[in-house]
Amino acid sequence: MTIEPHGGTLVNRVVSGVECKTLLDRYDGVQRLEVDDRTLSDIYMIAIGGFSPLSGFMTKEEYQSVVETMHLRNGVVFSIPITLAVDEARFHTIRAGETLALMDAERRVHAFMTVEDKFRRDVRNEAIKVYLTDDEAHPGVKKVYEAGEYCVGGSIDYVNENPELEFPEFNRTPAQTRKLFEERGWRTVVAFQTRNPIHRAHEYLTKCALEIVDGLLIHPLVGETKDDDIPAEVRMKCYEVLIDKYYPKDRVVLSVLPAAMRYAGPREAIFHAIMRKNYGSTHFIVGRDHAGVGNYYGTFDAQKIFGEIDLKKFGIQPLNFEHAFWCTATGSMATEKTSPSTKEQRIFLSGTKVREMLREGKLPPQEFTRPEVAEILSEWASTNGGKVQREPEMRKVSER
Ligand code: ADX
Repeated sequence: MTIEPHGGTLVNRVVSGVECKTLLDRYDGVQRLEVDDRTLSDIYMIAIGGFSPLSGFMTKEEYQSVVETMHLRNGVVFSIPITLAVDEARFHTIRAGETLALMDAERRVHAFMTVEDKFRRDVRNEAIKVYLTDDEAHPGVKKVYEAGEYCVGGSIDYVNENPELEFPEFNRTPAQTRKLFEERGWRTVVAFQTRNPIHRAHEYLTKCALEIVDGLLIHPLVGETKDDDIPAEVRMKCYEVLIDKYYPKDRVVLSVLPAAMRYAGPREAIFHAIMRKNYGSTHFIVGRDHAGVGNYYGTFDAQKIFGEIDLKKFGIQPLNFEHAFWCTATGSMATEKTSPSTKEQRIFLSGTKVREMLREGKLPPQEFTRPEVAEILSEWASTNGGKVQREPEMRKVSER
């Protein structure tokens, strides 16, 4: 085992076989609650231990502790509240102590939840403390406002024996990635979170990191993202072709993170690191405006926030990177730390700029994207480009 799971124990709330059938029989007549895709993703992440040490949705005390102090009540760092919101009418029918069947829109039960607590939350306070803005144009804040103030908390038991997973061949649970790292003999593993195709700056970061550890976990988030992010199935093609040609395959694992993006910037950077620790990584890359959106966060706020926690206790080591660019003076990727260039000799390209170029039918240049990746993106843009939206609406991979 390379690193302890967050909080000490890898949570496993997946119930299978006879035990699963017993639960399904026992709770056959309980109150059913339809939940949205975001919540289904949270349920799955809790069940497989991705959100360890959480074993369910937060109770009021845990919620308040996380929002106000960024720690669980037992002192373990936790930066994002994981809540189950219900509508007001439903809220009044639910009693503490009862069991709820959490089901999807097709009425398939995914999990049972024992209600430990029901409470109202202050959504605006959550927005300000967690997202650092109460602007409803922020896609993460908007989600919190839409979900509303009525919450139920309690541990879950996951009983969906055949979950429909995105990219099943790349969908490994924390226990599975941990086992894989052990099999490969990796004692140190750096995880790379991304919601974009891997461009040259990402490649530079991951390779710099790979110089100092045994293995690299390329861990794209494939849960809910906003509408103008590039779809996960397109990104997956990019990752595969890139790893195939530009990475040492025996030192890289490509696996997906089926969690939703919150766009909470600094707080989410910590949350991203917690999840990757659970997946067995010892190091975590944090670059410019990690998990940011628009201009809500300072370029390096997501790095600075790690200074607020006890890193030794936290366990996973953040690896901070400066803003990377193509340096025309040296003909390579670089940052201010590694390049003698003047400002004029630096080519910075953002994901937004690439999407603009694709919309205009232009191929992103070599300095920004490997040609094989540019090809995939341009093919996608030529068939779907007209649908690329600017509005930060959220969307689920399976809905596309
Ligand atoms: S994120 O929402 O997952 O952070 P993205 O996929 O763009 O978005 O970024 C993945 C990681 O690469 C993040 O740690 C981000 O900070 C970092 N990153 C992206 N572009 C750059 C860049 N040009 N220079 C340095 N770090 C970068």
